[in-house]
Amino acid sequence: MSVGCPLEAANRGPSARTGRGQTRSGHIYLGGLYPEVQEKIHQELDRVLGADSKGPLSISDLNGLKFLDYVLKESNRLYPPAAAIARKTSEDISICGYTIPKRAQVIVAPFLVHRDEDVFPDPEKFDPNRFLPENSARIPECAYIAFAAGPRDCIVRVFAEMEVKILVCHILRNFSLHSLDSRDRVLPIIKINLQSSQPTRIKFRRRQQ
Ligand code: HEM
Repeated sequence: MSVGCPLEAANRGPSARTGRGQTRSGHIYLGGLYPEVQEKIHQELDRVLGADSKGPLSISDLNGLKFLDYVLKESNRLYPPAAAIARKTSEDISICGYTIPKRAQVIVAPFLVHRDEDVFPDPEKFDPNRFLPENSARIPECAYIAFAAGPRDCIVRVFAEMEVKILVCHILRNFSLHSLDSRDRVLPIIKINLQSSQPTRIKFRRRQQ
């Protein structure tokens, strides 16, 4: 089954620019690529939700799925749906000895910011443990900007994170995924939305519980 590319906008409408579509498919693409990570998610889902594969999820269920949170954050780190954010300076700003003049157009690329190896060692490695509480405490403010930062950050970050978590949760409680295309074949293309060089193919197999 092909689910489209992991990074490219699949939606039209208000969230197309920030890419719920890419977010979902990026998460399931990476989940299907790392069986050991997927196994840990399945174990967590079974522990928190039990054998029920259909029932509604409560807030306490969702809050109990901690490892899934780390996986979703790490996917957004590697493949931030908004790969570039534009701002216009309202005054002269001095940064590291450089002056950015008033009214300059500034592009910030979360895709690149998230690959700062001082903050995220071995940055291409998919490692959800970076977001364990003891590790994420060392991530400086503004080093992880999948939802931007400051007064014009994503106004629905909490809602968007929960929405994606529910969706991924429903998929993974019912299916095992196997991504057929490796990361060196599915190349990221940085536009305003992150896009990919080709569609990704993911096999869905119904889970035996
Ligand atoms: C996982 C999904 C999402 C991600 C990663 C995301 C990320 C972002 C980012 C990076 C920005 C800043 C963009 C910029 O300044 O150029 C932003 C702004 C915004 N987002 Fe989201 N977003 C998501 C979902 C949504 C959804 C579902 C909605 C609406 C239903 C939404 C509504 C908005 C709005 C209205 C802004 C503009 C806020 C402002 O300018 O003050 N976002 N989002």
